Amino acid sequence: MSRWKAPHLTVIAALLVAASTPISANAAPPATPRPLASGPVNPGFDTGDLTGWTVTEGTAFGPAAVTAIDSYWGGPFHHRGSHHLWGHAAAGDDATGTLRSSSFAAPARMSFLVGGGWDPERLYVALVRDSDGRVLRKQTGPQDEAYVRIVWDTSAWRGQGVHLEVVDRKAGGWGHLNLDDVRTGEAAVRDDNGLTFRTLGQAGQPTAPTAPRDFTADPLRPQFHYTPYQGWINDPNGVIQWRGRHHLFSQFYPDAPLWGPMHWAHAEGPDAVHWRDLPVALTPPPRATPTDNSGIFSGSAVDDDGTLTVAYTKFTDTAAHPGAAPETVAIATSTDGVNFTPGTEVITQAPPGSSAGFRDPKVFRDPVDGRWKMVVGSGDGGRGKVQLYASDDLRTWTYTGVLAEGDGTTGAMWECPDLFPLGGKWVLLYSTNEGGQSLQRYAVGDYDGSGFRAERHGILDGGGDTYAAQSYRDDAGRRLMTAWMSDWNVKEPTRVNGWAGAQSLHRELFLAPDGRLGQRPVAAADSLAEGAPVTVTDKTVTGTWRLGRGETARVKAVLDLGRTTADTVTLRLKASVAEATVLRYEKADGTLSLDTTGAGYGTRATYRTQVKPSPDGTLALDIFVDRSSVEVFTGDGAALTARVYPRYRESQAVEFAAEGGRLHLRSASLTRLGSAVLPD
Ligand code: FRU
Repeated sequence: MSRWKAPHLTVIAALLVAASTPISANAAPPATPRPLASGPVNPGFDTGDLTGWTVTEGTAFGPAAVTAIDSYWGGPFHHRGSHHLWGHAAAGDDATGTLRSSSFAAPARMSFLVGGGWDPERLYVALVRDSDGRVLRKQTGPQDEAYVRIVWDTSAWRGQGVHLEVVDRKAGGWGHLNLDDVRTGEAAVRDDNGLTFRTLGQAGQPTAPTAPRDFTADPLRPQFHYTPYQGWINDPNGVIQWRGRHHLFSQFYPDAPLWGPMHWAHAEGPDAVHWRDLPVALTPPPRATPTDNSGIFSGSAVDDDGTLTVAYTKFTDTAAHPGAAPETVAIATSTDGVNFTPGTEVITQAPPGSSAGFRDPKVFRDPVDGRWKMVVGSGDGGRGKVQLYASDDLRTWTYTGVLAEGDGTTGAMWECPDLFPLGGKWVLLYSTNEGGQSLQRYAVGDYDGSGFRAERHGILDGGGDTYAAQSYRDDAGRRLMTAWMSDWNVKEPTRVNGWAGAQSLHRELFLAPDGRLGQRPVAAADSLAEGAPVTVTDKTVTGTWRLGRGETARVKAVLDLGRTTADTVTLRLKASVAEATVLRYEKADGTLSLDTTGAGYGTRATYRTQVKPSPDGTLALDIFVDRSSVEVFTGDGAALTARVYPRYRESQAVEFAAEGGRLHLRSASLTRLGSAVLPD
């Protein structure tokens, strides 16, 4: 309809202008003011070609870039309509070029789908003013092929002639950009299903951490999980309670929402829930070459007679530093808990049999012989392993030997090991990559000061986003643990806002009666509650029932299985008519699954764990929903954690459903949770 209207109006306007203009034989024909279209021609490439778009430079965007292909190597593109512009399709990553849309009148708001590489300088969609070529808005990609919708407030230029430019000046990996479904006016923010798109995009996001920092503006920013304001984080490092305060360091790259030369970000707080950012604790050496990735890899912290002492992997990129040892152990210290001395190398060479790597030292005081011990992740010949060292002063370390080793089925390199006593046993945590899947594993067994004998193996969290877990014993004697709430496979749609990565809620570990390693949210998480909870008791659900709404909320429920006749009970979280994260309990076999495949952007998988009801026939669920995460804890200590990224503002409902009978809830409650960010 609109495509027919635009030329029609143009013709009428031209006729009117012609009729009212006196014609003089000598004068140049008057400029014809052309009414501007309300949006670009062919806004979603659904003509199947580049109609309305002009290649202005290079080869990146030939006609072959318009494609109807639905899926790439990692899943569906989630494009709209029949076609989209896949910047890789015409000439691959190495080609560069620019593509220009037809001109249109700047609306009050516009939105579009963007995919492809992240690089704000070399890969972006720009809104350009026709009259002076000024770039009014820019947006780079999510470093993923799948599309994320960007919403722009363009009201400042409303009515002015503008056009879009798709710019690809990047060659090499992720050197392409994808575009689809440009929308203007009301349709820019409201989808055809009546729901409102969340406002994502780098416009309005700072490029550097500036004060005051607003953690509330970004609709995908977790409110009670530690996140980098801009840039990237992965593993939690150096977790400790020191002089009464809890410290949390993170693998950190400040310059991009991508892994890069590692720093240690640093935060501290009173309760293992609320965090205040401190200055970056450890920084990598200056880059020797533009691609030098040398940096401060993962490690741990101990209190050495009042001195906060951290042990970390000094990673040296041998492509930039030929002949250097790639991974050594270094120590840095702080007497004020803020400023650290430059690191000193204390283990300059990996022990034999460490061909897959030698990193992530975790230091602890060994109750068996009173000495300092250090476990280090390693692997050789396809088997992950843990190396053990001993010391009396944290400076001179003696290699003790291999503490534990895999059988070849649990990954070739065990990252981030952690060894600690718990409930009369010893627990070994380690992270693995198995056939492209990242897993947080654990073993429970016995340790005699030099060797570990596993009696039981397990996966710490059945969800897809728990990796590089690290624990500490706090002043109250609890074993607290946090993990990178992500992994090496995750899609990070938040990259369009300049950041990626979050740390899990701190959890208290315990040994369950059946010997499994259990976890529960740290008790101080109660302090996040805001306002009075919505509570029900003794509620029977047939069909679907809505408990309430919340994008930062805690949902507790006690399912009375004795009085529940339904075969399957589901709890839809972050739900709207278009999307939901679905927790499902199968009564027959005790499977609890978390289905994130219809949750929004960054669609992933369905995760499963086994849960055991309490002896009284109830199943307790304690669920933390944050803006882009869901953490499920069950009464028996199982957990399912996943990042989810809803597309729509309305996706906040919490709904129970019973299939094949009724559900009886002994109780259920929904509490809104507040922010864990303490002012700097
Ligand atoms: C685990 C890991 C560690 C390494 C760090 C680098 O996620 O690969 O082994 O120290 O990340 O950032």
